[in-house]
Amino acid sequence: MINFHQLKVIKFFLSFFLISSLSLLAEDETDVNSFFGRPSQAYNPADELLGWIDSRAITSLNGEWSYIVDPMNNGLPESSFFGGFPKNKTQKTGMELIEYNFETAKKITIPGAWNADDEKLLFYRGAVWLYKKFLHSQKDNQLTHLYIEGSNFATKVFINGEAVGEFIGGYVPFNFDITGFLQEGENILMIQTDNSLSESSVPTQKTDWWPWGGIVGDVYLVQTPVEYILNAYLQTNPKDHTIAEFKVKTSKFSSGKKIILEIPELDFKQAFETNELGQIEETIQINPMLWSPSNPKLYKVYISSKQEKISDLIGFRSIQTKGQKIYLNNDEINFKGIAMHAEPIGIPGPAFSKKHFQQLLVTAKELNTNFVRAAHYPYTRHLSKLADKMGIMLWEEVPVYWNIDWDNPATLEIAKNQISRLVQRDQNRASVVVWSVANETPLSSSRMDFLLKLLLEIELIDSSRLTTAALLSGSEEQFRLLVLTLASQGAKSEWVNEKEKFIFQSILAKANIPLDTDIKFSLSIDDPLGELVDLISYNEYFGWYYVTFFAEQMMVGEGTLRKLMFEIIPEIKISSSFDKPIHISEFGAGAQYGNTTDKIWSEGYQADLYKLQLKMIANNPQIQGISPWVLKDFRAMLRPLAGVQDFYNRKGLIDEKGNKKEAFEVLANFYQNEWKK
Ligand code: GCU
Repeated sequence: MINFHQLKVIKFFLSFFLISSLSLLAEDETDVNSFFGRPSQAYNPADELLGWIDSRAITSLNGEWSYIVDPMNNGLPESSFFGGFPKNKTQKTGMELIEYNFETAKKITIPGAWNADDEKLLFYRGAVWLYKKFLHSQKDNQLTHLYIEGSNFATKVFINGEAVGEFIGGYVPFNFDITGFLQEGENILMIQTDNSLSESSVPTQKTDWWPWGGIVGDVYLVQTPVEYILNAYLQTNPKDHTIAEFKVKTSKFSSGKKIILEIPELDFKQAFETNELGQIEETIQINPMLWSPSNPKLYKVYISSKQEKISDLIGFRSIQTKGQKIYLNNDEINFKGIAMHAEPIGIPGPAFSKKHFQQLLVTAKELNTNFVRAAHYPYTRHLSKLADKMGIMLWEEVPVYWNIDWDNPATLEIAKNQISRLVQRDQNRASVVVWSVANETPLSSSRMDFLLKLLLEIELIDSSRLTTAALLSGSEEQFRLLVLTLASQGAKSEWVNEKEKFIFQSILAKANIPLDTDIKFSLSIDDPLGELVDLISYNEYFGWYYVTFFAEQMMVGEGTLRKLMFEIIPEIKISSSFDKPIHISEFGAGAQYGNTTDKIWSEGYQADLYKLQLKMIANNPQIQGISPWVLKDFRAMLRPLAGVQDFYNRKGLIDEKGNKKEAFEVLANFYQNEWKK
């Protein structure tokens, strides 16, 4: 006699095979989801950014996590054969089939990139799951948020098997209110990170830096009251240092909430009330000592409500341009800079900690810089907090790099999210003087439209800093003129051999240019984006790139062109049709530390190029800032030359271990003795 239970089992198998036979007949046999009847998973977006994080009630989840590599995305509930990793099934009787176990999986220290930590993952592009257990006890009238300072490049968060949400876009902080997901005692946090990039991501998959994957910033649990201060802005008016703009955002649209602003050292204390949006937008009168590289004065600032008190260290200064000059606190200044990537000295992987940035900024200071371009993406907050204290001005940027999918709304959303979160997090950092929205992006109307939207996104939050984008060199007209300048130089140089001299003379003849014409190469930066930004920034590689391409076209030796290029660099004229300061945001050359030959890749070549470039820069009055490329050799997949690059970009003034190359002193000397402002 079949009993009820057996009937149930038979019914289950009948329905199981019915589904499978139906689904096999379905048009798309390969759709395993319908086969197993798995629901597609909707993920919530991250909450509005929590600011002033270091003064809040935080519990750090940094430290030892475990991880499982998931190249087939088999761990996601919506695409897994077994319900996905978040189920976190554990062995009970020794008879359960479970094909993953985070308890026995490999360990990793977070923050940290799994493709730096595990050599076998160095070139891996895909998903890796991170796992952390933590104890928690929820306090009454409190919320618990999960705050992640940066995670590359797509992140899905699960707590105790439930999908909390997802964040698309690397490098910037995001947080989720996880109060409703937590249980008393032990909780399990699982985070799927994926460092894949595509034509429509930001950046795209083609970058000249390493796609460090995973959680590349602090991970905190943050306690707040149920109604809390989300973020606050306090910055001096660029035109009048005794006025500061004070803006507060709270988590609820409730008016009449009392918020007190205190700056004890300025003997300032004032109460304000939120408007119907739960916000405050006021100006206050203060008379602070101004922050500057020579005097990086910071003030302790407190903001409190009935339920909480948060604080920050804030410096007050103004940065502006007038005509072709840059002014800090109304004094003319040069950006005596260096560009860098977020990679520590002597340690593989991304830089993210105070210690990492301390080493990098101390090295930058040894160059006598007052300015660092933090290329090409947002760094963790530790960089700008340290730069505040050390008196180093910063250029911060988002990875809108080379050819982005300009017409894709999802791509725009990622970039807008990155720039708005970067600005919201660093809006009170005196060191941050420049926001940059792009690097070497080819001209087009959709690119202009896209970048305008990013500039407006900045404007909505902060209009007290300079905006820019590193513009692309090399219009056809510019290259044509450079070829003619090289030909003119070559046609009259004694050391050029007859054959090549003949080629140079025929190029001039073909262009109807008399042999004795003295052609000087000059260029004007007229990218239409110049209309929309404060600083005209420009990457140029005279003496490094371009001649490779010309040598093939002109059928002359590349060595000849390099030598001719070195002869003409100091005379190059750079201007812009925009009456604004020019900042050379990149120039440089590759050099292998210890290579003392007189050939390419030698330290001498790089040092000679720097001497010539700096002469040119000193000869061009519209150039008011520079950030040569680059402080330190960094990992790059575009640089495979074995024995020289070994997948490092070698344009650093120090190598990846911190060894100084000859050009280091050339730049340090220029800032010390030539460019003094
Ligand atoms: C470009 C780009 C950098 C790159 C550099 C180089 O200008 O902005 O990201 O690393 O040139 O070629 O080394």
